[in-house]
Amino acid sequence: LQVVVLVSGSGSLLQALIDDDVHGKVYEIVAVGADRECTGLERATLAGIPTFTVETRHFPERSQWDAALADAIERAFSDADDDLDLAALTGGDVAARQLVVSAGFMKILGAQTLSRHTVINTHPALLPSFPGAHGVRDALAHGVKVTGTTCHVVDAGVDTGPIIDQRVVDVRADDDEESLHERIKVEERTMLVDVVRGFARGWSINGRTVSINE
Ligand code: GRF
Repeated sequence: LQVVVLVSGSGSLLQALIDDDVHGKVYEIVAVGADRECTGLERATLAGIPTFTVETRHFPERSQWDAALADAIERAFSDADDDLDLAALTGGDVAARQLVVSAGFMKILGAQTLSRHTVINTHPALLPSFPGAHGVRDALAHGVKVTGTTCHVVDAGVDTGPIIDQRVVDVRADDDEESLHERIKVEERTMLVDVVRGFARGWSINGRTVSINE
C-alpha cells in the first residue's frame, strides 16, 4: 500500500507511522504533504521521505488550492510507481493501491481531493460527538466522563464520514485540555497504525461501509 500523509502540526501521528515496525513491509509512506511549514515536514525529511507544501494563500480560490493539492498527491503517488520492492514484499499488486492519511491536517479537503483520492482522518473525540477543530476542549466543557479518538473516511462534511475505528479514553477529574489531548493522542497513534495496516492487508471502502477482507 502506498500512503501519502498530510500534516499541519507537530506530526506525532506521522511519526507513529514512520516508526511502525511493520512499515516498509506492508505499506510505504511515499510522501508527506502540508499546508504550511511545520514540524511534521521536518520529521518526514529526517526520515528521508519526500515532502510537498500547498499553501492556501498562494491561490485566489479555495477550489484552486484543492485542485493543486489533489495534483500534488497524484504526483507523489506516480513518482513512487517504480517501487517494485513493495509489490514483491506484499506478494501482489498491493503497490497499485493508494491511501491518503490526514494526520493532524487542519484544512477541510475539497471535492477534487476527495473525488480523486481515498482519504482517512483521525479525530480526538468519539464521533459523532464533538466534531470540528476543538474536539478535546468541547468534550471537556460538556463534562463527559469518557471520550477518545475516531478514525473515519473523509467525506464532504466536517468529521462526518464513515467510522473505521474508535478507542476510548477516560476523563480524569484533574484533566485540562492539554493533559487529556496527550492521553488521547497515545490511543490515536496506535489506532492509526492499526488502521493503515488494515488497509494494507486489503480493507476497502464501499459507500458508508468499510469492508474487511482478511
Ligand atoms: C491529533 O490529535 C489530531 O487528531 C488533531 O491534532 C492532533 C495532531 O497531532 N487534529 P500531531 O500533529 O500528529 O502531533
